[in-house]
Amino acid sequence: MKAILICGSRNPNGQTAATAGAVLEGLAKAGVPAEKVFLPALAIERCRQCDDSGWGLCMKEGRCVIEDDMAGLVEKMRQADAVVFASPVYFSDMSESLRAFTDRLRRICMQEAGRSSIKGKPAIGVCVAGGGGVGAPECCASLKKVAAACGFAVAEMIPVKRQDLREKTQALERAGQSLASGLARN
Ligand SMILES: Cc1cc2nc3c(=O)[nH]c(=O)nc-3n(C[C@H](O)[C@H](O)[C@H](O)COP(=O)(O)O)c2cc1C
Repeated sequence: MKAILICGSRNPNGQTAATAGAVLEGLAKAGVPAEKVFLPALAIERCRQCDDSGWGLCMKEGRCVIEDDMAGLVEKMRQADAVVFASPVYFSDMSESLRAFTDRLRRICMQEAGRSSIKGKPAIGVCVAGGGGVGAPECCASLKKVAAACGFAVAEMIPVKRQDLREKTQALERAGQSLASGLARN
């Protein structure tokens, strides 16, 4: 059993990584290790909206025409038993790197081959408002919408404010543990 963290922050030592780290700690306590992926370190272009119709190979074949790090990451996600999405809150929404990735993922998931080993996969999201503290619920709503459209079984979306991070750590760990117990039951 293994999980993967898809993190939309560029900072492995930042607030988003620390918050997601609490979820991973819960998973680890239940015997589920996780690989961590920081999206800004990868080359993931935004969607090119290939055809005049706005669609492209994504609709026909469930894969993306762009040859960058996307396909490899999607394959890693397919191999994982659960996915943890984490984003810093930017303008009350997801970070640009997570947006670019999930935008393209949603497109390939519109096709059966594309959503293979993604549909029904358990997922958790955490959105970290690390500035004034506004916008985490809106960011969670945005992430939940795209994750659900991809077909993930979204177990929880957890909004976190910098000001509440310490108090929320236990709840985040518990979320990781309960994600792991769900995996063990299946
Ligand atoms: C472009 C940008 C927009 C931001 N918008 C918000 C915001 O709407 N609400 C908020 O609380 N913090 C906001 N912040 C602060 C980030 O949420 C904060 O830097 C981030 O959570 C820190 O995570 P990191 O340490 O993983 O980078 C913004 C930061 C940037 C760079």
